[in-house]
Amino acid sequence: MKKIIITGSNGLLGQKLVKLLLTKKTYEIHALSRGENRMINTKGYTYYNVDITQIKILTNLVNKIQPHYIINTAAMTNVDVCELHKDECDTINVDVVNTLSKICKKNKIHLIHISTDFIFDGEKIGYYTEEDKPNPVNYYGLSKLKSEKIIISSKIKYTILRTILVYGLVDRNDRSNIVLWVKKSIENKNKINVVTDQYRMPTLVDDLAEACLLAIENDAIGIYNVSSNQLLSIYEIAIEVANAFDLDKNFINSIETTQLNLPAKRPFKTGFDLNKSISQLKLPSYSFTERLQVFKNQLASYEGSSL
Ligand SMILES: NC(=O)c1ccc[n+]([C@@H]2O[C@H](COP(=O)([O-])OP(=O)(O)OC[C@H]3O[C@@H](n4cnc5c(N)ncnc54)[C@H](OP(=O)(O)O)[C@@H]3O)[C@@H](O)[C@H]2O)c1
Repeated sequence: MKKIIITGSNGLLGQKLVKLLLTKKTYEIHALSRGENRMINTKGYTYYNVDITQIKILTNLVNKIQPHYIINTAAMTNVDVCELHKDECDTINVDVVNTLSKICKKNKIHLIHISTDFIFDGEKIGYYTEEDKPNPVNYYGLSKLKSEKIIISSKIKYTILRTILVYGLVDRNDRSNIVLWVKKSIENKNKINVVTDQYRMPTLVDDLAEACLLAIENDAIGIYNVSSNQLLSIYEIAIEVANAFDLDKNFINSIETTQLNLPAKRPFKTGFDLNKSISQLKLPSYSFTERLQVFKNQLASYEGSSL
């Protein structure tokens, strides 16, 4: 049995990944996150309540488990919080990755790390390939770029999966995501302001979890783009959500990014070229519209089961 450590197991990707890998029955899963375990009704793995910024605790734990893989999903992911709390952002997004890289080097562990479209400035005409030159416009993007550089220069066995605007359904997650936010806001009859001048390829969290598994199964080394294949403005994404759930589109108000006056700047357009992932990772290619239906079905069966 291959042993896998998953950091950030309480998060959106972390929870989905633990569940996916458990279905394979060929992996021994060690899930690390801080605080109580937020996954319910899931058995067959070990949960550790740890703050992974504590270098000694993290190192001792990895030495004890002796994993074949570490999948690092833990991060400070709120872009505006990163902008306002740069030191804290560095601690989890950069320093932890530095520690993990050293541990992986010493113990010959394959590190799978999640990065972001926000390493780019969004000004490219056309889609970003894995070889394009990064130029982050905010601190979150810079911190993730720093983490990539640390991993690449550490000469370990690594896979970096870059992804875009992740949404999905997990047991308990305090944070919302674009799809749930639009759906809940309209259902509660709250008007929402949605920007027309930022373009993304939204990613169903199940597809990102699948990409982590494919990286292991295909022994994929290097950087890979992981997202849907449909580039939409955030406003168009909101309209798609309203259409999928049969909601009143009049609650969606179109605005421009400058009107939001947010602490962190956002890249304009960050669509990915997915050719490398499709051919080398064997990643299936889906549109946002079709994955939204999958999400809708998941939500229906989840709500049905909790009645
Ligand atoms: N979500 C997106 O739209 C998106 C887009 C591009 C890239 N990514 C990348 O994808 C990865 C996964 O994102 P996600 O959406 O799953 O993030 P998430 O839901 O915020 O999950 C991250 C998890 O890491 C945990 N964590 C943070 N600091 C920790 C610490 N010091 N010790 C232990 N655990 C800690 C968090 O714990 P708490 O829950 O207690 O805070 C959280 O459960 C991240 O690397 C992110 O940068 C995400």
